[in-house]
Amino acid sequence: MSNIAVIGTGYVGLSSGACFAHLGHVVTCVDVVQLKIDNLNKGILPIVETGLEELVAEGVAAGKLIFTTDVVSAVKNADVVFLCVPTPEGADGSADLSYIQTAARTLSPLLRSGAIVVNKSTVPVGSTKVVERELKRPDVSVVSNPEFLREGSAIQDFLHPDRVVVGSDNQEAAIAVGALYEKVGAPVVVTDPASAETIKYAANAFLATKISYINAVAAICEGVGADINDVVLGLGYDKRIGHEFLRPGPGWGGSCFPKDTKAMVKIAQDAGYDFGLLKGVITVNDQQYGRIVDKIRTAAGGTLKGKKIASWGLTFKALTDDLRDSPAVEIITRLLADGASVSVFDPTVTVAPKGLDAITVCSSPLEACAGADVIAVLTEWDDFRWVSPVEAAGAVSVKQIVDARNLLDRSEWRRAGFEYQGIGR
Ligand SMILES: NC(=O)c1ccc[n+]([C@@H]2O[C@H](COP(=O)([O-])OP(=O)(O)OC[C@H]3O[C@@H](n4cnc5c(N)ncnc54)[C@H](O)[C@@H]3O)[C@@H](O)[C@H]2O)c1
Repeated sequence: MSNIAVIGTGYVGLSSGACFAHLGHVVTCVDVVQLKIDNLNKGILPIVETGLEELVAEGVAAGKLIFTTDVVSAVKNADVVFLCVPTPEGADGSADLSYIQTAARTLSPLLRSGAIVVNKSTVPVGSTKVVERELKRPDVSVVSNPEFLREGSAIQDFLHPDRVVVGSDNQEAAIAVGALYEKVGAPVVVTDPASAETIKYAANAFLATKISYINAVAAICEGVGADINDVVLGLGYDKRIGHEFLRPGPGWGGSCFPKDTKAMVKIAQDAGYDFGLLKGVITVNDQQYGRIVDKIRTAAGGTLKGKKIASWGLTFKALTDDLRDSPAVEIITRLLADGASVSVFDPTVTVAPKGLDAITVCSSPLEACAGADVIAVLTEWDDFRWVSPVEAAGAVSVKQIVDARNLLDRSEWRRAGFEYQGIGR
């Protein structure tokens, strides 16, 4: 079992740290935000993630999971140090590596000889070399080990991954990092750093492509009178295509796809390739936000001015509290700009986030739709499936619903007198 330090205790760092402790390693999670660490030491988690609380409690009780802001104590005895810091979008669309560089410079004088530094953050091709340059420690190896977990199922994804990817020029270091995952029993793809870094961006770009593709097909379905749900069923049974990531919706978002697709376009450009396909995928996604706003406007009678919209959902997907680049946030911002007022219910949101101060945050779906001209389902929380359409009909001002996730049973809503509109059907 290894002694691991994790730098950055966010969605990836905290989930990874808790899972590595569960796998038997001794893990120290470091963050620069004192409050986050103080709360974690009191058992208060900074994020919503299924199964994480239990895993953190288990790791802490076993003395295998430690939270601190003291990077020196965390790193001095570490065999492996994971960088899980942000890599936000830079001014030109490329990934901003400044957090990675700062962390590497901090680590440089602290690492023991023979330690391994791992890029788990999503970083562009060449970043292993960037970290090596910042460390200036020839006695320390740098390895790329991109993370593929999804928010909402992070623990399940980490402990049962489809594969583990390890990229390094140093075979011994690559084997040591692969061995940390021995108990998860997944195939380990050992490769060079550039290939490992490319795999992560290529994977996210491909998944975003699948979603944009099905949203484009959904738009065609609306034009030709086809039903996207049946089309997806028929497509998905084809093993070459599969059902995953073929759900039409309000567009992709979250903390990864928007920045990673743009970064991939920039990586391609720097490599001398114009990635027109991926640019199209991004355009389709931007258009999708507009298509949902148009549907809501039409449902509201052709104008949003003075209309009350009830938004069910605010997070970028269900089972997370993450609002970063959420399609719901983007759509609501456009509704407000067009003169609507918006009441929101989301199971994980209790106060209006920065930039959306004009919304009213409600404590139930029915409260949000009191007096509404249109209900808009923007996040696929299961909670909305169980709302009685009859009770909702009694609460709204006008019986109009736009289901941007194709989540609800449309016959039931129509029976309750609603004009129901989904996506692609
Ligand atoms: N969120 C996801 O679903 C996901 C999935 C796969 C990969 N990734 C990638 O993982 C990386 C991290 O993403 P995230 O969502 O966990 O970010 P996050 O913002 O949730 O967490 C990052 C944490 O790093 C801390 N931090 C910043 N600088 C630090 C430093 N010098 N020392 C210690 N702590 C520091 C921050 O305070 C924050 O708590 C990104 O590159 C992201 O693209 C994210």
